[in-house]
Amino acid sequence: MNPRDIHTPVLLERCLELLGPALDAPGAIFVDATLGMGGHSEAFLERFPALHLIGLDRDRDALRIAGERLAPFGDRVDLVHTVYDGIDAALDSVGVGAVHGILFDLGVSSLQLDEVDRGFAYSRDAPLDMRMDQSTGVTAADVVATFSEGQLRRIFERYGEEKLAGRYARAIVAARADAPIERSGQLVDILTRATPYAAQRTGHPAKRVFQALRIEVNAELAALEAAIPAALEHLVLGGRMVVLSYQSLEDRLVKRVFADAVASTSPRGLPVELPEHAPRFRLLVRGAEQADADEKAQNPRATPVRLRAVERVREAAA
Ligand SMILES: C[S@@+](CC[C@H](N)C(=O)[O-])C[C@H]1O[C@@H](n2cnc3c(N)ncnc32)[C@H](O)[C@@H]1O
Repeated sequence: MNPRDIHTPVLLERCLELLGPALDAPGAIFVDATLGMGGHSEAFLERFPALHLIGLDRDRDALRIAGERLAPFGDRVDLVHTVYDGIDAALDSVGVGAVHGILFDLGVSSLQLDEVDRGFAYSRDAPLDMRMDQSTGVTAADVVATFSEGQLRRIFERYGEEKLAGRYARAIVAARADAPIERSGQLVDILTRATPYAAQRTGHPAKRVFQALRIEVNAELAALEAAIPAALEHLVLGGRMVVLSYQSLEDRLVKRVFADAVASTSPRGLPVELPEHAPRFRLLVRGAEQADADEKAQNPRATPVRLRAVERVREAAA
């Protein structure tokens, strides 16, 4: 299996262009907080020959595959198994404090989607697992078996933005009274049967429920909400961060954290801004950038992407 055939990195040239000014110097350190199969990382190591990479992922399979792919770069690469909100400890473990560029390419990897037995894809029957780190934590089957109807409805609403959340939660609770729901195919059948005919034309009935379960199982939004501010603190002056999000909940969260980071902390009503209140970061792109039509046509994964980026413009107050 060649990782290059499975996954095409999204908005790669744009990421290189945005992070490049911070990375094109001797001693520059780049953190790929979502290493995956190492597609982005490989391109960064090739483009910037003096660059040192610290790659993080919570998925041991991804670390193994990326490790093989990046082996030619030798000691320019450090890989750490961690959830990205553990970035402080991860950097500590390789003896690094400040870094020059950070990339978050969120969500599941093509590898995870393609590995049928991990249960991420509603299109193929598999055990209902959905853990990105298969060595720890509850599975999607555990969530479906143990959450109350109200809890299920809330996660479908909140993480799936699913209009039929209540109906689906009810159907799951009724079905599991008859038999445990252990496979993705069973869940898809239950959801399909619970979907009114008219709603079946507006996309696959299981899409949003599967997204919600994946976010719940991996505590994705909580990890992201903690990770981005923590990562920003590690950027040197002139250091840059790019985040690629693939669904609106993530993008809204990133937008909010970046808005806080670029805001002045001046008390309202002060006639002049004191230097210690000046913003510590600036936005590098207006709003959220999308992939162009060519990239979307060539790489369907790029269709929903939203890119946001910031640069550190002031040191933290002493
Ligand atoms: C979209 S893929 C990255 C693909 C990569 N940029 C490439 O070009 O090959 C996202 C990766 O982030 C990892 N990931 C998702 N959430 C994570 C988290 N909270 N902590 C650490 N890794 C995470 C997933 O395991 C997955 O391998």
